[in-house]
Amino acid sequence: MNLIIRNEIKSDYKIVEEMTREAFWNLHMPGCDEHYVVHLMRDHPDFVPEMAYVAEVDNKIVGNIMYTKSFVLDENNNRIDTLTFGPICVLPEYQRQGIGTSLINHTKKIAIQNKTKAIIILGHPHNYCKHGFKNCIDYGISDSDGRYPYGQLVLELEKSVFEGKAWKFHFSSVYELDENRVSEFDKQFCRKEKEYKYSQEEYRIAVRAYLENPQ
Ligand SMILES: CC(C)(COP(=O)(O)OP(=O)(O)OC[C@H]1O[C@@H](n2cnc3c(N)ncnc32)[C@H](O)[C@@H]1OP(=O)(O)O)[C@@H](O)C(=O)NCCC(=O)NCCS
Repeated sequence: MNLIIRNEIKSDYKIVEEMTREAFWNLHMPGCDEHYVVHLMRDHPDFVPEMAYVAEVDNKIVGNIMYTKSFVLDENNNRIDTLTFGPICVLPEYQRQGIGTSLINHTKKIAIQNKTKAIIILGHPHNYCKHGFKNCIDYGISDSDGRYPYGQLVLELEKSVFEGKAWKFHFSSVYELDENRVSEFDKQFCRKEKEYKYSQEEYRIAVRAYLENPQ
């Protein structure tokens, strides 16, 4: 497979939105909203364009990863800037060939070069623990309400950076969506059937799950 990982450019935007819609359609809900997140992200102050990458196979975009700025605060409002990726996706027919791994590894390397302290994401542990992510509870990083979501995961890039303090994670407001706007936006794309899939149940369980007993 001739895989190229390159920076996203403006002329990729629509293709990436269409690809994201294909990859997420009916996965977490009937339909999906991730293509709208991608659309909003480009004009959002938290977007990090130099960390937006696409994966190409034979000149076709088949995957992408996008990052936003995020941060953690301790009890004294000391702040550590972090990065958050998502959505990340690969077209269904190109999945399980290492493309997602290549996108993560490539951007992880750049984050390390840029002295990023940590990458914090919301995602399925199955997809990310193999890349070194751990649950945030292991580093004393709660969500902004002081709870420890099952899917809030951290990849520490500077050793012990979170040690000895309790932190709260704050992610970009770009992920807070108005569902009516998602429906409106989706009308620009070709019609696709919204359906129930059991993966939606797994997702609904995961997003309401929290860990307890930090130690
Ligand atoms: C999650 C996602 C980005 C992963 O991308 P991907 O390209 O499929 O990822 P990889 O191929 O690197 O790894 C996926 C699996 O394929 C396996 N794999 C990698 N290369 C392989 C190969 N050549 N042959 C067989 N299996 C392979 C990996 O070991 C991994 O296995 P596991 O799931 O059992 O651990 C992709 O599946 C996707 O877009 N899913 C839909 C959207 C989504 O869920 N995004 C993430 C939201 S949390």
